[in-house]
Amino acid sequence: MKKLHITGGIPLNGELSVHGAKNSSLPILAAAASVHGKTILHNCPQLSDVDAACEILSSLGCRIIRTATTVEVDTEGMDSYHVPEHLMREMRSSIVFLGPIAARMGKAQISFPGGCELGPRPIDLHLAGLRQLGLNIQEEHGILDCELRQDKFVGTHISLSFPSVGATENIIIAAATAEGDTIISNAAQEPEIIDLANFLNACGAKVYGAGKSCIVVHGVDRLHGTEFTVMPDRIVAATYLCGAAITGGEITVTDIQSEQLNSLFPLFKKMGCQLKEEHDKVWIKGPQRLRSCGTVRTMPYPGFPTDAQAPWMAISCVADGTSVFVENIFESRYKHAGELMRMGANIRIEGRVAIVEGVKTLYGANVEATDLRGGIALVLAGLSAQGETTVSNLCHIDRGYEQIEKSLSLLGAKIYRE
Ligand code: UD1
Repeated sequence: MKKLHITGGIPLNGELSVHGAKNSSLPILAAAASVHGKTILHNCPQLSDVDAACEILSSLGCRIIRTATTVEVDTEGMDSYHVPEHLMREMRSSIVFLGPIAARMGKAQISFPGGCELGPRPIDLHLAGLRQLGLNIQEEHGILDCELRQDKFVGTHISLSFPSVGATENIIIAAATAEGDTIISNAAQEPEIIDLANFLNACGAKVYGAGKSCIVVHGVDRLHGTEFTVMPDRIVAATYLCGAAITGGEITVTDIQSEQLNSLFPLFKKMGCQLKEEHDKVWIKGPQRLRSCGTVRTMPYPGFPTDAQAPWMAISCVADGTSVFVENIFESRYKHAGELMRMGANIRIEGRVAIVEGVKTLYGANVEATDLRGGIALVLAGLSAQGETTVSNLCHIDRGYEQIEKSLSLLGAKIYRE
């Protein structure tokens, strides 16, 4: 099995462009299933989750042409409403195919989704929202058999009990071609929701208010094909910034939308980093030794992102003082802590709270990626550790970071895959 070998202690240095957002590409690819015609998506990252989304589209009868970071989806020959179980299990985002498949075919048959093990990740809000829009859903033996009660989804008022990103996406896509208007209250406000709405609107949809907690969708008859560029990946950008912070390096991260990282900048500064933020790039210089970040609570956007919790924990491991993490989004998102402790970190977990007492140095060790963001946290720790770190189980990291060893090598890191 492939591993990353990292020799720690080398400050990152240089400039790096950030690839397209995984969490935006996946719902947009799902939405493409409800489009009549051709979708051309640019800046679509070359990641295993994107491969999985393309496989789902192929399994539905869509024609996919992929060249580097451009994906063309042609739904002309779409003739199936069934997503095979092994593809559903590949990733959690596969559930976002439910709305678009039903919108296009009137029916959908899928199983429960897989994805990172972050504790129970129910899909009740997705199902309740789509039921309210007129989808009959029968659950039997892990299979969801779904059929529209009428020809189309029918617009309604949906109030989410939690601003779930995935459920908001599913509902927006379904509502786009519903009969009448849909109002979503307590909608997720993540930038990826705005990207999805921009894509749908480019296809002729009428989605208003994306990025705010109340979204209004005027249903249109059908969606037409378009050409669209996916937004940059804000979590990948945050990860590279963490890499500079933990190694005392100096880097510029380019091709980003820096305002999407506003919840992180004050924390970097609090920890002793120097920053210069411009609209599409950020320069960061890490200090000799980081200071602790105090208490970090993961929250829906615009709060501190749950996806940045593990990378942040890695950099806190070597910061001077105590850092406290409160994980409010997922129940079991501290699996990386045990691996960081193998490298000499001092972490105590109490339910949703993690207490990190900063140590002067981490030491290279053989560690295993436990999930996507937990895996990248180990890479960050390895960049700062004394000696060599090997990180195994790279399938998790490859779900969200395009050739991570190549990007980090460009910044001067000693890292290779074998
Ligand atoms: C979440 C993150 C998103 C991140 C993505 C990938 C939040 C709010 N969402 O999105 O920013 O990019 O993971 O790691 O930070 N839930 C239910 N029922 C549902 C759906 C969700 O109870 O039907 C719960 C989940 O169990 C979880 C919370 O709501 O505790 C957040 O879920 P949701 O936003 O839907 O997750 P993702 O869409 O995966």
